[in-house]
Order: sequence, then structure tokens, then C-alpha cells
Amino acid sequence: MRTFLVFCLIVILCVHKTSTYVSGEETKPRLLFVFGDSYADGGNLPPGSASAWRAPYGMFRPGTPVGRFSDGFVETDILAAALGMPSPTPYRLAQNVSISGGVNFAVGGSGVTYALGTPPFQTQVGWFASMVQAGVFTPEDINRALIFVSVVGNDYAAYNGSSLDGYFNLTHEVPLLIDLNLRTLYSLGARNFIISSVSPIDCLPRVTASSGFTECQKNVTIDAVIASHNHILGNRLENMTRKLENSSVLYLQQTKSMRYVLNHPSEFNLTETLKPCCVGNCGSVDESGTPLYTVCENPETHFFWDSIHPTEAGWKAIVGLYNRPRFTWFARSLSSWFGSGVPFMSERNQGYQIVAESPSFSPVMLAGI
Ligand SMILES: *[C@@H]1O[C@H](CO)[C@@H](O)[C@H](O)[C@H]1NC(C)=O
Ligand SMILES: *[C@@H]1O[C@H](CO)[C@@H](O)[C@H](O)[C@H]1NC(C)=O
Ligand SMILES: *[C@@H]1O[C@H](CO)[C@@H](O)[C@H](O)[C@H]1NC(C)=O
Ligand SMILES: *[C@@H]1O[C@H](CO)[C@@H](O)[C@H](O)[C@H]1NC(C)=O
Ligand SMILES: *[C@@H]1O[C@H](CO)[C@@H](O)[C@H](O)[C@H]1NC(C)=O
Ligand SMILES: *[C@@H]1O[C@H](CO)[C@@H](O)[C@H](O)[C@H]1NC(C)=O
Ligand SMILES: *[C@@H]1O[C@H](CO)[C@@H](O)[C@H](O)[C@H]1NC(C)=O
Repeated sequence: MRTFLVFCLIVILCVHKTSTYVSGEETKPRLLFVFGDSYADGGNLPPGSASAWRAPYGMFRPGTPVGRFSDGFVETDILAAALGMPSPTPYRLAQNVSISGGVNFAVGGSGVTYALGTPPFQTQVGWFASMVQAGVFTPEDINRALIFVSVVGNDYAAYNGSSLDGYFNLTHEVPLLIDLNLRTLYSLGARNFIISSVSPIDCLPRVTASSGFTECQKNVTIDAVIASHNHILGNRLENMTRKLENSSVLYLQQTKSMRYVLNHPSEFNLTETLKPCCVGNCGSVDESGTPLYTVCENPETHFFWDSIHPTEAGWKAIVGLYNRPRFTWFARSLSSWFGSGVPFMSERNQGYQIVAESPSFSPVMLAGI
């Protein structure tokens, strides 16, 4: 503890010293905090526990599995690159690796309920809260930081009730819980939020496999669930940003962007849409070591990587659309929101220094996975 206090004092002195030197660049956010599911997870599941740690995951980049549910980068990496920021460090590694770009708390399989059994959004927020309380980041860091949240379907995928009524009720519960968690993040000092709408559940390969990956499932219940979730969440985000002073929200229309890419693949140099690159039980082998899947040679031509997740090329297409009009709410596009509409950009007179790698901080182990 004493070491930590001394460390803090040194940092405060440093902040004080450098705050006389400030330029426009210095006021930009340098921290990205990420919460949610496998679309965002940068490798938080322990090695050995998840398919993302087995071949052929990571075959395109870096060439070996690193815990990302993709052939290469996932949404977090592509989004960070689009914002000119480094990929945030997975929370699992936060003790050993520099966290000067932020921390990625997302865990594959999570949602706001216990979904598929991995730590949900609220647990991830608890990890962030303990870092904030340990003084790992300055209040200014957190104020200027970007928060990205991907809670895009696991709660629906995990629904095991028998009634459609109960399934539909989730479209009230899930946005409510996302809202509550965002308010907790706000109370911890976060102000700038990027939130994703759900993925088009009806077009995921796990659903379209029954048609040989030829068409999205036509199901009015699923259509209504997607529309209801996205609408209620949008409503809540709008109310939230009105009520919470200085908060700013960008709502990514992921259902729309993914459908757009699936309908216009050639615009993105993709040749395969519904058929994933890795078909079957991706990442699994039988007792004799024979793969229970087949894998394509050119993942960069496929939109989907496995039965649920886009390829890196898919993510580039999706995130690229957020810089076009009409794929985001509450701001014209990602770049217009990031460039001008965000409060931190108008604050020109504050020093900005990252307090990273606190020696006393110890990440809580991901229990129960
Ligand atoms: C962090 O470093 C320590 C000491 O080198 C090591 O024992 C531990 O396994 C590392 N943790 C991770 C998650 O790599
Ligand atoms: C259904 O899901 C609930 C909540 O996630 C869980 O407590 C329950 O054990 C599940 N039931 C079955 C039969 O899987
Ligand atoms: C769905 O919500 C309604 C209204 O809150 C409630 O009356 C009903 O029991 C819920 N259905 C299920 C299956 O949970
Ligand atoms: C539509 O999806 C719901 C929820 O998964 C399912 O219960 C229902 O049977 C599906 N309807 C059709 C016509 O496939
Ligand atoms: C948003 O606020 C309006 C006006 O206060 C209210 O009528 C509406 O129910 C709120 N929506 C949600 C989803 O909370
Ligand atoms: C909102 O921003 C203004 C200007 O930077 C600041 O004075 C005020 O304390 C902020 N309020 C909250 C609740 O963040
Ligand atoms: C598609 O490929 C062409 C030819 O290689 C290239 O010029 C173009 O930039 C690519 N477009 C995208 C969106 O990657």
C-alpha cells in the first residue's frame, strides 16, 4: 500500500508538471474501456477453456489462436483503429501488460443475465470499479475515456424458457440492465459511450445452417424481438443522455450494418456472405485428433468466420459503415461524433496523464469458467 501511495504521489507530480504543456492532441481520449461479449473480447477467457484458444482461430492474424473469436481482429480492434487508438489490453493480462490504451473487460458468452455462464456486463463493470477505486486511472482519464459496449444477443441465445412471451419479455429486461450498467459507469466518471444494437440473429450461420447457408431465417418472432430490443434500447439511451449531464452516446446500428454488408458484399470485396469460413464445430477435434470442422483458404473473402462471429474482413466492413450516414444514432457518424460532438473535445485547458500499471492492482480471476 505504501508503495502504491508513493507511486500515486509521483504520478500527481507528473500530471502537475506536464499540465503546462497542452495541445489539442493532448485532450483527445487515450483510453478505451470495453465491455460485453465475444464480438468485443480480446482474449479474456483463460487459455484452454474456449474454442477461441484453439486452431483455426487466429489463422489470419496473428497466425495462432489468441483467444479472439475471429480469424484475426475482432470489433474492438477495428473500432480502436478507426478511432486512432491502440487496442485495449485484455483484463486478464492487465497486471502484466501496459494498460496505457485502456482495458478490455469483455468476455465471450456474456450478456446482462448469466447468459452462457461467463461473467456478465455487471461483473465486468465491477472489475472496472475496483480498478477505479484503486486509483489506477485519474478522474480526468475516465472522464475523457471512451466506453464501448457490445451486448448483442447472448441473453436471447441463452433463453431456455418455453414461452414466446418470456422470450419477448427479454427485450425489456436486457435494455433495462444495459441502461443500469451504463449509469453505474457514469457514476464512476465515464461520460462517452458507444453502444451496439443486436446482431441480426436470423442471419447467423448457426441459424442459417439448416438452409445450407442460403437465406436468413424468416421468423416474425425473431424480427419482432430484434426490432423491440433495438427500439427500447435506443429509447433508454436517449433518455439517459438527456438526464445525465455531459454524457454523450453513439448508438451503433449493428443489425442494419450487418444486413447491409450481407446484401452488398461486393462493395467490401467479400464473396461469401452467409456461409462461414469455418464450418462445423469450429476449433474442436475428435479423440483421434481429426477436426470436426472444415476451414476455408481465404477468410478475407468471407463475412462470417464461424457459426456466430464475423471475420476480421467482416468487422472492417461493419465498422467502416459507421463512418457513413444512417448507420449510427444520436450523431451522423462515428467520425463526426468523435471529432466534434463529444464534450471532451471542447475542454482545451486540462493536462492529461495516464496513471497506468499500478503495482498494487491485481485482477480478480475469472471465476467459474
Ligand atoms: C503475469 O506474470 C506473472 C509473473 O511473471 C506470471 O506468473 C503470471 O502467469 C502472468 N499472468 C498472465 C495472465 O500472463
Ligand atoms: C435456464 O436458465 C436459467 C437462467 O439462466 C437457469 O437458472 C436455469 O438453470 C436454466 N434451466 C435449464 C433447464 O437449463
Ligand atoms: C412477461 O411480462 C409480462 C408483463 O410484465 C408478465 O405478466 C408475464 O408473466 C411475463 N411472461 C413471462 C413468461 O415471464
Ligand atoms: C421463430 O423463433 C421462435 C424463437 O426462437 C421459435 O420458438 C419459433 O418456433 C420460430 N418460428 C418459426 C415459424 O420457425
Ligand atoms: C423515455 O422518457 C420518456 C419521457 O420521459 C418516457 O415516456 C419513456 O417511457 C422513456 N423510455 C424508456 C424506455 O425509459
Ligand atoms: C460537466 O462539464 C462541465 C464543464 O466541463 C463541468 O463543469 C461539470 O462539472 C460537468 N458535470 C458533470 C456532472 O460531469
Ligand atoms: C477491393 O479490391 C479492390 C481491388 O483490389 C481495391 O482497389 C479496393 O480498395 C477494395 N475495396 C475494399 C473496400 O477493400
